[in-house]
Amino acid sequence: MKRFEGRAALITGGAHGIGFACTRRLAEEGATVVIGDIDMDAAADAASAINELVAPGVGSDRAAYAVHCDVTERGAVERAVAETVQRCERLDVLVSNVGVASGVPFADTDDAEWERQSDPTLSGSMRVIRAALPHLLEAPGGGAVVATASVNGLIACGGVAYSAAKAGVINAMKNLAAEYGANARGTVDAASGWVRFNAVAPGTTATRVWTERGAEGERDMREFGRLTAMGRPGTPDEIAAAVAFLASHDAAWITGVTLPVDGGLSVGPLAHILAADGN
Ligand SMILES: NC(=O)c1ccc[n+]([C@@H]2O[C@H](COP(=O)([O-])OP(=O)(O)OC[C@H]3O[C@@H](n4cnc5c(N)ncnc54)[C@H](O)[C@@H]3O)[C@@H](O)[C@H]2O)c1
Repeated sequence: MKRFEGRAALITGGAHGIGFACTRRLAEEGATVVIGDIDMDAAADAASAINELVAPGVGSDRAAYAVHCDVTERGAVERAVAETVQRCERLDVLVSNVGVASGVPFADTDDAEWERQSDPTLSGSMRVIRAALPHLLEAPGGGAVVATASVNGLIACGGVAYSAAKAGVINAMKNLAAEYGANARGTVDAASGWVRFNAVAPGTTATRVWTERGAEGERDMREFGRLTAMGRPGTPDEIAAAVAFLASHDAAWITGVTLPVDGGLSVGPLAHILAADGN
């Protein structure tokens, strides 16, 4: 039995990188997936690629759809959620995956630059969750939200605005887990009426955010990878595997957690020191 058979998932930022890997993974496990993204050409290509790979989801003539969704605009978010529910007639899983970072130093980060990163990363996540909540609360067996946070939200990795926004996402998951858990909702013995909220905190993951900076970006990515216990950057599929677990009923008693998926970066510098001593 596929874990997401008969279920529908919306993945924001699902056209590229980690979001695309999550979209493909959920579709391969039986979900009907909706890619909500600002890059509609890439979202349409991503949906086509999945439709070629995967048989249609239950109650749908396709496995994957693309919808326009700019998480910085409330109206666009609400339309994207409405279109998702119209296409799939339900919404069980939300992967809130958009995050925007920049290399601007803190001293040069004016209010506009701060907003450019924190609005999509933190406020955007909250807009999508707020719009999706009424539908997630109706999901049989409970709804699930998985946010793509970052190790930046757990430890100092640079990028104050982005990191603070990711830390905000991590804390929001804890509060929302309590507010929308079955206990607070009075639905402990019901078939639906609660939502689990969890996050993954990826470390350096091989996506275009590194590779589009050419050789320098590739070198930075490998150097960050060498700081980890596993000694390499992660792949989008490795993040998607953790997202799929947290979104699935296998994680039915897990809510409010942030799972680092970082090759051991967040355990601290010991692995790096030992590797430097030994090599
Ligand atoms: N790649 C890494 O090393 C890494 C590490 C930790 C956390 N993350 C987080 O993982 C998530 C995905 O990152 P990625 O590396 O796959 O990036 P990516 O650039 O490959 O993909 C991001 C996706 O988000 C979309 N997007 C951007 N702004 C949007 C908006 N306003 N509304 C809707 N969609 C929008 C883009 O079009 C793209 O499809 C982000 O939240 C990022 O912060 C990435």
